[in-house]
Amino acid sequence: MIHPRPPEGAAADWTIPQAWECYTPAEHAMWDRLFARQSKLLPGRVVPAFLDGLDILRISRPGIPDFNELSDRLMKATGWRVVAVPGLVPDDVFFEHLANRRFVAGRFIRTPEQLDYLEEPDVFHDVFGHVPLLSHRAFADYIQAYGEGGLRALEHGAIDRLARLYWHTVEFGLIREQGELHIYGAGVVSSHGESIFALDDPSPHRIAFDLKRVMRTRYRIDDYQQNYFVIDGFDELLRETIETDFAPLYAELAKLPDIEAGELIPEDRLYTRGTQEYALKARASRPPSSAP
Ligand SMILES: [Fe+2]
Repeated sequence: MIHPRPPEGAAADWTIPQAWECYTPAEHAMWDRLFARQSKLLPGRVVPAFLDGLDILRISRPGIPDFNELSDRLMKATGWRVVAVPGLVPDDVFFEHLANRRFVAGRFIRTPEQLDYLEEPDVFHDVFGHVPLLSHRAFADYIQAYGEGGLRALEHGAIDRLARLYWHTVEFGLIREQGELHIYGAGVVSSHGESIFALDDPSPHRIAFDLKRVMRTRYRIDDYQQNYFVIDGFDELLRETIETDFAPLYAELAKLPDIEAGELIPEDRLYTRGTQEYALKARASRPPSSAP
């Protein structure tokens, strides 16, 4: 594999200066608008640990957080930092940062036209969506363990399967606390529409988390999820990730077929059997060339 070089202006580890002073008033105003909208919506929906962590983002200046100041706070809480990168980075670079408790974040923010849909994660997704839970000890340790696991998965050619674990937990996971489902995945909590859809809509399946099942499950990157996986707690997720020997698991998974998004298997423990109505309608309205 030819390793792509960092873009011009980026360091060898692909980081760039956030250049906080270069943000325009309109960019800060966009953050404030998104922040106000989500903070109003999330109480009662999001896991309470996320709301505790939001205080980390309430730093002294309005608008987009200054990563240095944010990192100082996060460092005191759990030893993590936030570093800016120019966009998506190669897998090994991403895992290396996570394994060293550095969370990589885009520095750009969406435009008003992109309010509800973005192809690449922006600073609101990366910081509002991911950073609050990095102040929670077990979750912070889980992300580091994931980074370490990613570096090992590269050697096993198992990146796609491990990426599914990240997708179905860190990005789109649900958690059950005191008998109630809450959202915690960054892709959900940073999306106004999916914060509602993931919990309230009858369409998606909500399935109890099972590591092997999750790593077999494909996903869509361009629309709401067809299934959400529900964990019982961050401690359990961390323990399972640390205690599992992934090498034999990858070997076993290589012999098993993938499971399509929206498909159920007999072993599933279901919280909600979804109607899949939303996904079926979306598929029907897509031009044939874009069918998966
Ligand atoms: Fe993300």
